[in-house]
Amino acid sequence: MIVLTPLDEAALTRLLEAAEAGADPLEVMPPVGGPPGWTPARRAAFLAFHRARCLDPATAVERTWVIDTDGTAVGAARLEPHGDAVEAGIWLARTARGRGIGKQVTALLLEEARASGAERFIASTTAGNHGARALLSGTGATLTAEGDEVAADLRLSRGE
Ligand SMILES: CC(C)(COP(=O)(O)OP(=O)(O)OC[C@H]1O[C@@H](n2cnc3c(N)ncnc32)[C@H](O)[C@@H]1OP(=O)(O)O)[C@@H](O)C(=O)NCCC(=O)NCCS
Repeated sequence: MIVLTPLDEAALTRLLEAAEAGADPLEVMPPVGGPPGWTPARRAAFLAFHRARCLDPATAVERTWVIDTDGTAVGAARLEPHGDAVEAGIWLARTARGRGIGKQVTALLLEEARASGAERFIASTTAGNHGARALLSGTGATLTAEGDEVAADLRLSRGE
């Protein structure tokens, strides 16, 4: 069963373990210099990134959830308000990809977005990210490409 667990310090520890075990740092956070892989600097930056963006009320800009499948963390989902829109993001550990989890998580994020009162659900990805593009077009969103960037925009009508 797939559950979105709101991020807290305990969930953040589990999320870092999932990221280290199954994702590249560049898939899950902004670039940090140094040799490839999960260096101590990147582990620290991962924790600082989520504390600043979600856990610290003084700086928080988004809600983040750990994606749990049968109690195990396999990735993260987020919603960041931008005016009347919320921007969504998802990443999954490699072993969890291509099994329909992204689709279920997208449905859960859409429910959260509607419940938050947002009028639009937006997201961005890159042209080569076929999984993310399939997920976003599956919601009915309009996808617009500009160079390598693909922007998705879906008007939310509540109660649908
Ligand atoms: C992108 C991502 C969230 C997709 O989630 P997922 O669980 O792998 O996707 P699902 O299994 O739910 O598949 C959803 C749809 O995408 C398609 N799809 C999934 N991976 C695909 C791939 N690599 N190439 C083409 N289509 C793909 C599926 O066939 C399915 O299509 P359908 O609705 O027509 O059946 C996940 O692969 C991931 O975390 N990737 C790495 C991080 C990332 O790129 N995040 C997004 C950044 S914008």
